[in-house]
Amino acid sequence: MLIRTASDIPSSEITPEDLYQGRRRFIAQAGSLALAGTLAPAQVRAAPAPLGVLTKSPYSTNEASTHYKAVTTYNNFYELGTDKADPSANTHRLKPTPWTLRIEGLVNKPRSIAIEDLLKLAPLEERIYRMRCVEGWSMVIPWVGIPLSTLIRQADPQGSARFVEFVSHYDRSTMTRGVLEWPYTEGLRLDEALHPLTLLAVGLYGEVLPVQNGAPVRLVVPWKYGFKSAKSLVSIRLVERQPVSAWTKAAPAEYGFFSNVNPEVDHPRWSQATERRIGEFSKRRTLMFNGYADQVASLYTGMDLRRFY
Ligand code: MTE
Repeated sequence: MLIRTASDIPSSEITPEDLYQGRRRFIAQAGSLALAGTLAPAQVRAAPAPLGVLTKSPYSTNEASTHYKAVTTYNNFYELGTDKADPSANTHRLKPTPWTLRIEGLVNKPRSIAIEDLLKLAPLEERIYRMRCVEGWSMVIPWVGIPLSTLIRQADPQGSARFVEFVSHYDRSTMTRGVLEWPYTEGLRLDEALHPLTLLAVGLYGEVLPVQNGAPVRLVVPWKYGFKSAKSLVSIRLVERQPVSAWTKAAPAEYGFFSNVNPEVDHPRWSQATERRIGEFSKRRTLMFNGYADQVASLYTGMDLRRFY
């Protein structure tokens, strides 16, 4: 993002059995991904594993989903390389199992949760979301996940908690060095993190999340530019002060804390008024809050969104 310019950018009810089978498949798939992690890229042939019957969400868009191949080969995941094709070619650099996610900081019940236990916290939902990248492209992605609020509420936030910091996995021996200050970090205000649209994703297209999309668990915040949705999370930390994200550290004038999709506030180097939906020829108008204004505009009542970009 930093080193590119715009012109460079080319079932409603789930049964316990379904849930159980979905988890078994997740564990089996995670195992085969771990094995794949020990092989050279050309040998990686982990078959995608379905996550079972998923609860449909009223928050899903009816727009057509972007093709699976584009969703899984046109990625930003700088730890695995800075070109769009790098993350899917370098999946052997991240082993998504075993994996634990910590919820910590200003909570009364901090815990480390194994990924298979995270799947038991709530029924897995399919959420088909529009995603808009700050670079000017967009996709529609059928995520699978649970609301982040489920995990945060169980940890029992303390009264002084006002923000949430997200920390991605980083292994210097296998991942990109330089470019950003690692590990990749992001932040949300606590009310944004508790918003029902904010998802912890563990899959897409009904299957276990591919490494390049942030396996085994990532954040998805559909009304913000894509970089807010941190991948391969290891820690979710409730804090008092507004965290500084990796992109804000790298270029504070370009990437602010809020980073709400806003066609009226340009990036300093290019307009944000339009976007190219991957797979479509002509550009479309970018919508305020990426089309989620009805659900989220009230979070920002009274705020000057040019100043708090
Ligand atoms: N998370 C980590 N850890 N590292 C990254 O480089 N890139 C961000 C975000 N999350 C990134 C990350 C950016 S810029 C975007 S647009 C989205 O992931 C891309 O997600 P996708 O590849 O699943 O579409």
